[in-house]
Amino acid sequence: MSETAANPVPTHVAVIMDGNGRWAKERHLPRLAGHNAGAKAVERTLKAAQKAGVKFLTLYAFSTENWSRPQDEISGLFKLLEQTLGRYTQDAAKHGVRLLVSGAREPLPPSVLDKIDHAVRSTSGNTGLTLNLALNYGARQEIVHAVNTLLREGKTEITMQDISQQLYQPQLPDPELIIRTSGEERLSNFLLWQAAYSEFYFTPVLWPDFDEAEFEKALWAYSRRKRRFGGV
Ligand code: IPE
Ligand code: IPE
Ligand code: MG
Repeated sequence: MSETAANPVPTHVAVIMDGNGRWAKERHLPRLAGHNAGAKAVERTLKAAQKAGVKFLTLYAFSTENWSRPQDEISGLFKLLEQTLGRYTQDAAKHGVRLLVSGAREPLPPSVLDKIDHAVRSTSGNTGLTLNLALNYGARQEIVHAVNTLLREGKTEITMQDISQQLYQPQLPDPELIIRTSGEERLSNFLLWQAAYSEFYFTPVLWPDFDEAEFEKALWAYSRRKRRFGGV
């Protein structure tokens, strides 16, 4: 690549959607008001990604560590998810988006699992952008789950390819770009295996304020990065 050449639009962008609580606090609102506003940012980002030509968008919606939050926040989050999934499935034919979910099914409530399964099934034939929702997701758990599957298959020695093939969604390419909002600069147990050569983009913008312009800023920053993959 020449000095001036820009990286093309990433195929896979992953986002750690953070800052809903702080957004609400700034407005003296309950944390759930921040999550509601965050759901709107999800719709804006999905549209922006489609427009930019991104093929895979992974959104970190709920981590395995988020179970430590107050019960009313957790149930509010899952209620919001059920509502969003319901609306989303209705519009699915229109927007052409295919839904995938990465994460453990246990201990998600059956009503949530039903909604997820229905949304995944009813969008499976769509050929537009693939939205991968990281839900009850933990990267260390994902790797342990992959290794245990391989052990059950009788493997006594495993390769990198074996692990890649046993991740929750093995058909996804590794994300070229990982965005985190709200000024935090950490992975919080997200995509540890897949992020080996990802570029990171951190912004102080709180997730409910994230929009198409912010998404484009991240893509622009990515386009200027020099990716070396260990070479010179
Ligand atoms: C991200 O916003 C949403 C989830 C983790 C579910 P937070 O709820 O973490 O917001 P802050 O970090 O408290 O501001
Ligand atoms: C990461 O955000 C998880 C999601 C965005 C779903 P957190 O707010 O849970 O992360 P920490 O606790 O600040 O590391
Ligand atoms: Mg947070």
